[in-house]
Amino acid sequence: MHEHAVCWLNGRLVPLAEARISVFDHGLLYGDGVFEGIRFYRRRPFKLRAHLERFADSARAIALELPYGQAEVAAAVMATVDAYAGADGYLRLVATRGEGVLGIDPRNCARPSLFVIADRLSMVPDAVRQRGARVVVAATRRLPPDGLDPRIKSLNYLNHILARMEANRAGADEAILLNDAGRVAEGTADNVFIVRHGRLLTPPPVEGALAGITRATILELAAAAGIPHAEVALAPYDLYTAEECFLTGTGAELIPVAEVDGRAMTHCPGPVYRELEHQFDALVSGPAMTADW
Ligand SMILES: Cc1ncc(COP(=O)(O)O)c(C=O)c1O
Repeated sequence: MHEHAVCWLNGRLVPLAEARISVFDHGLLYGDGVFEGIRFYRRRPFKLRAHLERFADSARAIALELPYGQAEVAAAVMATVDAYAGADGYLRLVATRGEGVLGIDPRNCARPSLFVIADRLSMVPDAVRQRGARVVVAATRRLPPDGLDPRIKSLNYLNHILARMEANRAGADEAILLNDAGRVAEGTADNVFIVRHGRLLTPPPVEGALAGITRATILELAAAAGIPHAEVALAPYDLYTAEECFLTGTGAELIPVAEVDGRAMTHCPGPVYRELEHQFDALVSGPAMTADW
């Protein structure tokens, strides 16, 4: 199942049989921890600095004091990439509150755990990428930002999982979560873009979207390509009546959307998607990649 995976755990690369976390780890018992997903292309982690900064901010926001500095976390990431057999892959960087006694109080845990996994990740089969994803708007809502700030990339994904189960039951490929006001927040592990009246639009983080690093990259590429774009609140109506729709994320990369709740997009993949996908591919395979860290 994970024959290609490698893992760095609490200070060293370990055989997969030893890549284990205690049943008393509060990351497991209470979802008390934070993480990042990072892709590497040709052995270079993409936007590593941005990921490490978001990781450090997530950890600080939950007062989880990492036992390693930024440079040591970067070194752990690089060691994991070096140990991986393939040139391209996906990294999961996770910090948990660590092993403790039962009871939610984080003071019960002596020391956080840090691990990095390198493996493959394909969010959707190639056939879905070709034809475009079928997406549903989930009844399950995104947690309200005043309940848990969406900028914290925490281990609490249960409402995203419930939304994904709604998509599975509907025979769809992905679900979009609305915020508590009924406006578009994000996908279960990705950000949402549409093209409407010729403008590229995506909801701002205040609507409940993670401030995605791929999302930021797409906005930069759109600006450089002269594509009109804006961060605006979106209703399901805007998705239903869009010319184009696509999803972005580290795991997802770019996934074109063919239909939302049975309403077909005018184009899939559309001209704006094609242009941005072209630019994104050039970026991850070009020389700019090496200047990141
Ligand atoms: C809930 C959620 N939204 C959006 C994203 C996309 O963010 P990024 O482009 O930084 O990977 C992710 C993924 O990692 C996610 O888990």
